[in-house]
Amino acid sequence: MLRILLLALFLATPVAAQNLDSLLTRMTLEEKLGQLNLLSANGRASPQQMELVRAGKLGGLFNVIGAENTTPVQRIAVTESRLKIPLLFGLDVIHGYRAIFPIPLAEAGTFDPGAAEATARAAGQEAAAFGINWTYAPMVDIARDPRWGRIAEGSGEDPYLGSALAAARVRGFQQSIFATAKHFAGYGAAEAGRDYNETEISQRTMREVYLPPFKAAVDAGVASLMSAFNDIAGVPASGNAWLTDTVLRREWGFTGFVVSDWTSVAELIPHGVAGSQAEAGRRALTAGVDMDMQSSIYVDSLAALVSSNRIPMAVVDSAVMRILRAKLRLGLFRDPYRARTAPANAELRTLARRVAGESIVLLKNEPAGRGAACCAPTLPLDKAGTIAVIGPLADNKEEPLGPWHTQGRAEDVVTVLQGIRSRASGSQVVYAQGAGIEDTSKAGFAAAVAAARQAKVAILVLGERGDMSGEAASRSSLGLPGVQEQLLEAVAATGTPVVLVLMNGRPLILEWASDHVPAIVETWFLGVEAGNATADVLFGDVNPSGRLPVTFPRVLGQIPLYYNHRNTGRPPDPNNKYTSKYIDVPVTPRYPFGFGLSYTTFAYSDLRLSAARARASDTITATVTVTNSGSREGTEVVQLYVRDVVASVARPVRELKAFRRVTLKPGESRAVDLRVALRDLAFYGLDMKPVVEPGTFRVYVGSNSAEGLDASFECIP
Ligand code: NOJ
Repeated sequence: MLRILLLALFLATPVAAQNLDSLLTRMTLEEKLGQLNLLSANGRASPQQMELVRAGKLGGLFNVIGAENTTPVQRIAVTESRLKIPLLFGLDVIHGYRAIFPIPLAEAGTFDPGAAEATARAAGQEAAAFGINWTYAPMVDIARDPRWGRIAEGSGEDPYLGSALAAARVRGFQQSIFATAKHFAGYGAAEAGRDYNETEISQRTMREVYLPPFKAAVDAGVASLMSAFNDIAGVPASGNAWLTDTVLRREWGFTGFVVSDWTSVAELIPHGVAGSQAEAGRRALTAGVDMDMQSSIYVDSLAALVSSNRIPMAVVDSAVMRILRAKLRLGLFRDPYRARTAPANAELRTLARRVAGESIVLLKNEPAGRGAACCAPTLPLDKAGTIAVIGPLADNKEEPLGPWHTQGRAEDVVTVLQGIRSRASGSQVVYAQGAGIEDTSKAGFAAAVAAARQAKVAILVLGERGDMSGEAASRSSLGLPGVQEQLLEAVAATGTPVVLVLMNGRPLILEWASDHVPAIVETWFLGVEAGNATADVLFGDVNPSGRLPVTFPRVLGQIPLYYNHRNTGRPPDPNNKYTSKYIDVPVTPRYPFGFGLSYTTFAYSDLRLSAARARASDTITATVTVTNSGSREGTEVVQLYVRDVVASVARPVRELKAFRRVTLKPGESRAVDLRVALRDLAFYGLDMKPVVEPGTFRVYVGSNSAEGLDASFECIP
């Protein structure tokens, strides 16, 4: 009797979880290739997909929405398929599941890894409650070209900030679901900012700029990486053994698995590196891409190549084991359904509002130059009097969700108009749309101008539609779309002080506004609490502390423009024509990386380094006194940049190597320490090995990448 009971128990247990090796030996070749197969559902699994699950020909599904839809398919996998291997359920939980947080680019501007970890944790927990166990986030692609729409999904242009946020987001997600660092690698370098385009990246730039955030994600324990669409100098990332094997597995010791991007295995054919589906599959799998998203090539076309030994069985086995180990690590063999409870809605919204407030960047805040208010900055607003709220995004419930908002719903969004109305109860708020986002008609201008004329201040909420950034949303011009700039000019011409509130997923070209509008507030796409967070800042309940995670150019022709460039042999000199510059525009950006104002001011003094000389194994501490020299409490993002003055390979003029958020009361001073381990100053030398060379390092500490006090130390052998 006991034996029968034990046998029944054994049969009911899908696999002996500890013994993946023995599971592998029991798998047919078709079942092995099935584990490497990943398909998208359309909300729920189709009957054909359920059949594939039953036959053991699917390792995971994505875009199955809701536990009521994931549970029945998982049940088929763990009770009806021969080997009872559970499925992964993936989804692009990019900046929230239903409670939508600021887009990742906005959140990067907080310079607050704790905030990024908190939103990733909350998003993962909410997604897990809806049956998801694997997200395709964080996107950790460095992006130096604002034409590229996917700049919105990442952390901007800086590898140090990008690495800190990559690790934080991985930690956050992986408290409940698996994360995927994507897109490995170089996707952000798409030529001309055109999505999916080719890239030309030197190995040094790849290692120093594009790879560090992936390395940080790997070090933080990320479960999977997604191979990118693009090629790198002719070698597509989804069939690139140097990336997915040499660097990722051999150098970094990554033990998780690599999933392709959507049909990026099949796309090896149009790339021109494979002549058939089978050849594309062979190339991707042998390069180290374990799971085939959406091409169905591994499962449909590779069996014959394996049987004839043109793909070694060991290659298939390694890929299968990586996926089985991931499922084991996630606990799916033990608990395939993973019933979870979502965080309370109020908790999610409180977090969304806090992080949205922290993400807002005050780009300009000058006196409006009118009447009694002639000399005070335009912001924050007081609540008295009439306020005109104008623009296509002022009362828009859809766009603040931004690109890729998963299950986000317009009905959950607080618009800027709603946020202002609920806050400014003592004042009269008049609203006019003025124009649509991409309108060519100025028919609504008259009402907007009339609204502005009766108000003490006009708040114009302008920018892009949410889907003008994100995937397949590259732009060739970066101005305000449609007639929005003319709307701004028409309202400004009334003489009523104007506050420009921007919503956008990338840096915009803001020349006219920067020259003529007294106050500019960059809100990006802030998610469900956009309106409340914006009102918090406009009325001064939150003092803005966001900083730009990406450079804002003056004109399109300056792109690519990023702060951590090299010096050239002829750095720009206004007195010398034959130096590196333009004849028609300054070389400097409109707003530099790291820039952002506050309602108070901060003064820096007394920069000291802990040592004048240090070895490559040492750590240097820079201490600077930061004083709140204004009249409100505020938070400063203290930034430390380093320049390696002379090296065997030319080094960037500045590289961010430390930052800290510091909150100070009016008049308060604090000595702020920033630590830099010299090993983090390594670069790839002439022999392409990391090295910290002896010599002078200049250290800059200040409030953005274009300012700061400086000091130097010597690295000694
Ligand atoms: C294509 C996108 O490039 C990628 O980021 C995403 O994760 C997949 N589609 C799946 O939706």
